[in-house]
Amino acid sequence: MTEKTSVLLTGGAGYIGSHTYVALVQAGYQPVILDDFSNSDPAVLARLQRITGQPVPHHRGNVADAGLVQALLEQHKIQAVIHFAGFKAVGESVAQPLKYFENNLGGMVGLLQAMDAAGCRTLVFSSSATVYGDPASVPITEDFPRSHTNPYGQTKLVCEDMLTAMRVANPAWHMGVLRYFNPVGAHPSGLIGEDPAGPPNNLMPYVAQVAVGKRPFLQVFGNDYATPDGTGVRDYIHVQDLAQAHVAAVQTLLQKGESFTVNVGTGRGYSVLEVVHAFEQASGKPVPYQFVPRRSGDVAQCYANAALAQSLLGWTASETLASMCADAWRWQSSNPDGYRS
Ligand code: WQD
Repeated sequence: MTEKTSVLLTGGAGYIGSHTYVALVQAGYQPVILDDFSNSDPAVLARLQRITGQPVPHHRGNVADAGLVQALLEQHKIQAVIHFAGFKAVGESVAQPLKYFENNLGGMVGLLQAMDAAGCRTLVFSSSATVYGDPASVPITEDFPRSHTNPYGQTKLVCEDMLTAMRVANPAWHMGVLRYFNPVGAHPSGLIGEDPAGPPNNLMPYVAQVAVGKRPFLQVFGNDYATPDGTGVRDYIHVQDLAQAHVAAVQTLLQKGESFTVNVGTGRGYSVLEVVHAFEQASGKPVPYQFVPRRSGDVAQCYANAALAQSLLGWTASETLASMCADAWRWQSSNPDGYRS
């Protein structure tokens, strides 16, 4: 029997990482999780075993520990790495920039050192549409200018530049940069999903908590934007589609070797109120809301031109807003306290 291709998932116990773990197993890969559980729950590991029907190779540790990472790369004969590990709360990054620089930038430095030392130079990086700042127009293509409006976005932008510098220094590096738009939803089993600690910053988990009765109402941050209904428009992408994009990214790098940077979105924007109404339809529950002033740092519209991912990776999103809401609701309603349920 041919040996399975081993892939290291840094931050693999997190929201996107756990869903990508399942997709990689189902695509015939052998993923290995490295996570320090600073922003994830070890309880996810048992859920992953239930979904995949096999033990979950995992190690507790920080990606900045280059010695540990190099040992894992060699022990598991890792062929490619997907780097998810990083803090991602915009507001927190403004309040605690050093925490974000140390963790997000220090983590990337340690990982690159370890990969170089182990001779593993195939990397998929979890970047974000936040590197586009406040786009001059929509839909957004990958050649749009980059800027940052907060330290979190700054770390994503600097990490992208680190990868470019590594490739210039040594063309043996093969890098896939995935710029996520707005990940939402959950695995259809309802066993894994988004599990924010404390009040959710993001729209979909907050709407889900209102629908389940955990929060009294949603605050809609501004209804005076230049959008069809005045509320913010975003490109929501189902986490299952996002997971498949990672499988396609690893396959493309290992088979073709050409590096790439692609948007990972649906190419369709939905407003806050469209999401609220879709969630009410999916859950059968009311989602009361109140309009409040805009949230600082928010942009009116942000959605992708997703054509490049299709042409380079052969990947296109297929889920709908209805399935995003239905799967988010199944996760929320069957796990009222997330993995602590
Ligand atoms: C979506 C829309 C809000 C909450 C951020 C990061 C991005 C990525 C995804 C990490 C906006 C509105 C929200 C609420 C609301 N994170 N909203 N009430 O800001 O587009 O992107 O999360 O990778 O990098 O920037 O996502 O879900 O916070 O907001 O009205 O309680 O919902 O104003 O229009 P955002 P979001």
